Amino acid sequence: HSADAQRTDLMTITRFVLNEQSKRPESRGDFTILLSHIAGLAKLIGLAGETNGEEQKKLDVLSNDVFIKALISSGRTCILVSEEDEEATFVEPSKRGKYCVVFDPLDGSSNIDCGVSIGTIFGIYLVKEQHEPTLEDVLQPGKNMLAAGYCMYGSSCTLVLSTGSGVNGFTLDPSLGEFILTHPDIKIPKKGKIYSVNEGNAKNWDGPTTKYVEKCKFPKDGSSSKSLRYIGSPLVVGSAKKLLIQITPKITNSLHVRQSSMVADVHRTLLYGGIFLYPADKKSPNGKLRVLYEVFPMSFLMEQAGGQAFTGKQRALDLVPKKLHERSPIFLGSYEDVEEIKALYAAEE
Ligand code: AHG
Ligand code: MN
Ligand code: MN
Ligand code: MN
Repeated sequence: HSADAQRTDLMTITRFVLNEQSKRPESRGDFTILLSHIAGLAKLIGLAGETNGEEQKKLDVLSNDVFIKALISSGRTCILVSEEDEEATFVEPSKRGKYCVVFDPLDGSSNIDCGVSIGTIFGIYLVKEQHEPTLEDVLQPGKNMLAAGYCMYGSSCTLVLSTGSGVNGFTLDPSLGEFILTHPDIKIPKKGKIYSVNEGNAKNWDGPTTKYVEKCKFPKDGSSSKSLRYIGSPLVVGSAKKLLIQITPKITNSLHVRQSSMVADVHRTLLYGGIFLYPADKKSPNGKLRVLYEVFPMSFLMEQAGGQAFTGKQRALDLVPKKLHERSPIFLGSYEDVEEIKALYAAEE
């Protein structure tokens, strides 16, 4: 609407990041430029519908290509790590900047033939010294991240971001083509009423995870049992399918779309409270989720929102990854809920 287009009081993501930057004397425009490139990409996917005529590719490969190209062309990056690429991408010197970006271009893609949810997860590191970038620059603990976030392409397109001083949520306004600050300073409830886990793996769980989930269902302290939510709401599924049909009609029309996504589960956990678990089990001793571009960004956001993230052994953000695609068990969410699982693991030792 033209009335909307004239509004000048809206806090757009660009304005927000510029404000944040002015509070920090050490930061310069480069970080703002990088972030606006990432927001621009999310916008592109969120507003999708005009990407026809393209050769049909699997959606995750497609979004990976788009991300890599755009991040390089921002001129602000030096190393890119994506779930979809075995090796890290080292940006050629003439296009190089000082930021490393780790990302999961499309989260939920592993079940692409039978069910899809869409989201993008990212984390940003700074290469401190002026030197030839190496893998060591990205194999850093999550607490060294400068910023982290995700974008969820659901009933609306939501971008949740932390630059290390709290968490803020932005919603894409399609009529303005801008991300608007709609969820300022998100704080996760201290304790929640929801647990989120793939219970189909229960027979292979370890003692503490088994005890914890049992406690969620049959609390012995008189508290009420928690609700289980692992698959996103049908509302999100419906609009996600509509969006996918616009991007890749041939593939999506034949799909039965099922929501199975860390982004959706973590988003709900952040807003409503509770706990999200992807624990270790006998078949997957390190769980399923990847440290650099799934566990770290989501743990960073949880801590910044007042929650916690634990691996079963330590604070998740203290973990030092040895490999690019390393996995780790993860328990994240409301402060008190994560305290309980920490106590169960401590008792085990
Ligand atoms: P991706 O599509 O990026 O490979 O990630 C899928 C992940 C994550 O989104 C979700 O939490 C998890 O897989 C679900 O795994 P299970 O089906 O084993 O529960
Ligand atoms: Mn993923
Ligand atoms: Mn993925
Ligand atoms: Mn995958």
